[in-house]
Amino acid sequence: MCGITGYVGAREASEVILQGLHTLEYRGYDSAGIAAFANGNLAVVKAVGKVQNVEEKVKALGTLNGAHCGIGHTRWATHGAPSDINSHPHGNERIQIVHNGIIENYAPLRAMLQKNGYTFVSETDTEVAAKLIDYHYANCHDRADALIAAMRDIVGSYAIAVLFADCPDTLYAIRKDNPLIVGVGEGESFVASDIAAVLRYTKNYYQLGDHQLAVVTKDRVSILDMEKTPVEHELLTATWSIEAAERGGYAHFMIKEIGEEPEAIEKTLRPRIKDMLPCFEEEGLDDSRLAGIKSVTFVACGTAMHAGLVGKTVIEKLCRVPVNVEIASEFRYNDPILNKDDLVVIISQSGETADSLAALRLAKEKGAYTLGIVNVIGSTIAREADDVIYTWAGPEISVASTKAYTVQISLLYLLSIRMALAMGKLTEDAARSYTRTLYEDMPRIVREAIALEDEVAEAAALFCDYEDLFFIGRGIDYHLAMEGSLKLKEISYIHSEAYAAGELKHGTISLITEDMPVIALATTSPLYEKMISNIREVKARGAEVLLITREGAKDAADEAKKVIYLPNCSELFSAIPLATILQLLAYHVAAKRGCDIDKPRNLAKSVTVE
Ligand code: G6P
Repeated sequence: MCGITGYVGAREASEVILQGLHTLEYRGYDSAGIAAFANGNLAVVKAVGKVQNVEEKVKALGTLNGAHCGIGHTRWATHGAPSDINSHPHGNERIQIVHNGIIENYAPLRAMLQKNGYTFVSETDTEVAAKLIDYHYANCHDRADALIAAMRDIVGSYAIAVLFADCPDTLYAIRKDNPLIVGVGEGESFVASDIAAVLRYTKNYYQLGDHQLAVVTKDRVSILDMEKTPVEHELLTATWSIEAAERGGYAHFMIKEIGEEPEAIEKTLRPRIKDMLPCFEEEGLDDSRLAGIKSVTFVACGTAMHAGLVGKTVIEKLCRVPVNVEIASEFRYNDPILNKDDLVVIISQSGETADSLAALRLAKEKGAYTLGIVNVIGSTIAREADDVIYTWAGPEISVASTKAYTVQISLLYLLSIRMALAMGKLTEDAARSYTRTLYEDMPRIVREAIALEDEVAEAAALFCDYEDLFFIGRGIDYHLAMEGSLKLKEISYIHSEAYAAGELKHGTISLITEDMPVIALATTSPLYEKMISNIREVKARGAEVLLITREGAKDAADEAKKVIYLPNCSELFSAIPLATILQLLAYHVAAKRGCDIDKPRNLAKSVTVE
C-alpha cells in the first residue's frame, strides 16, 4: 500500500527510482512522484495515474537529469483523492518526503503547524508529516533530532523517506508498522518498501525496525533508535532473483504466477518432510506443543483468510479440535477469548497487512501461542509471531493472490497431518501415506490442472458478458467458492456471490433467473448428490451452470451446460487443483473483458493501513 524507493550513488537517480516504482506498482498505482537533487536544487516531478505518467513527465521536463540522490513514491490514496497535488513527495523548499501509512492525528498536528505559520496545499496527512519534520528541524537544527521528535508526535503508521535540501547526498528514513528496507550496494545505497524494488542492483539489505531512523549515504548506512543510539542489524540477503520479480514474456504476472504453482508447492513442502512425515522442528513446532493445542484460530484478510477456511476443514477432519476462522479487522475489535493452549495462526503473504499484524499482537497479549504463515522473509508478522513457517512461493507481484494461496493451503494440509500425528489422531503409517500423496502427487496434479487452461478459457467465454453470477458449493467446495468468487470480483469486476449450496433456498434463490449463471463446485463425493439437487434447483429457474467436479462424477455432463473435470487426485487434497482452476477461470474472464488484470482498480497488494 504505497511504494517507496530512494537512491543515492553514481547512477542517474531518477532512472533507478522509476525502475523501482514500476516494480512497486503492485502496492498502489493512482499517482506517483519523485524528488531529487539536480544542479544543486531540490526538484520535484509528480503526476496522477500510473508510474508511466510520471516517467513521461520526468523525461519531458528533464529537471531531474544528473541527479544522484532522490526519493520516489507510487500512491494508493487514503487522505485526499488521486491528483497531481495530492501525489507524493510533499514538503517545501527545505524538505521533501514520501510516505506510506496513515498519520492518525494529522488534524491536530496540522492545526498546531498552522498556528505556527505553516500553510497546506494538499489534503494529505503526508504534507502534515513533512511540515512537522520541517518545524522540528527549524527549532533544533539537527536532522536526526527533528525526525525523532516527529516520530514522538505522530500517532499512526508510517514508512517515510526524507530529503533535506541542505544535505544533498543523504537519504533519511523512519518507520513504524510499515515495511522499509535499506539496500546496500557497492558505492550506492537504496531505500525501498520491498527488496524487489532494488533487486537488479543489490540483494543485500537491512530491515528497518519500528521507531528507528536510517541515515543513508552512498557508502554508509547508520541505523539509530529513538535515543540516537546506533542499532546493530543483520545484513540480510534476498533469495529472490530479479527474473522471479519480472514478467518474463507472460502477458500478466497473474498467469505467470499461476504457472509457478507446481514448483512453489514442491519448494514449500520439501524442506518440511523427513522420512516421508511432516516435520516442523526447524520452525520450533515440536510435537509436545502441537499435541497440547485445544483450539485453533486462523486470522487473516482476503485470500489468506480463505486459506484459513481450508485449514479449518482439514484440521477439524484430521485432528478433531475446534477451529475458528476470523477476519483480522473484526477479530482485533471483538475482544477474542483466548488461552495459552490456543493456537492462533496468522496467514499473510506480505507479512505486513495492518489488520493481521494488529490481530497477532492482540493474540500475543492474550497469551495465545502464535504462528505466522508468511511469504515475505523478515516481514513484521514473521518477526513478531512466536514461530513462523515461510511459504516459499517466491515474489508474488500480481495484486490478485494466486500461488501464495495455493502454497498456503498446501502447507496447511502438511501442518494438519503433523498435528494429527502429534495428537495421536493419525497413525504414523496413515500420516506417511497422506504426506506421500501430498508431496509426490500435488505438483504434478497442479500441472495437469494448468494444462486444462484452454478448456477453462472456453468456460470463461460463457460468463464474460454477465454482470452478476453465483458460485455454490458445500463443505470445502464452499470455501473454495468464496475464493473463486473473490478472485473473479477482484479482477473482472463482475459482481459475484459465493453461497453454501444448501442455503440458497433460504432466500437468495430469488435472485436466480436466466440472467444469473451459476458456477457449481462439487468435488466432495459424499455431498455430490446433494449438489446435483441444488444444481437442478437453479437450472429449473433458468440459470446456466458450469459444473466443476471430479473425474468420473455420475451423469455430470447431463446436469450442466459445461463441465470441467479436475485431474484425478486424492479427494482430501482436491482443493489444491480446484484453486488453480478457479484462478484460471477468473483470469480468462477478466482477460476477455479487457481488464487491467495485474492492477485492478482501487486495490493494492500490501494493505498496511486499517
Ligand atoms: C489485500 C490483497 C489481497 C490479500 C490481502 C491480504 O487485500 O489485495 O489479495 O489477500 O490483502 O494480504 P496478505 O499479504 O496479508 O496475505
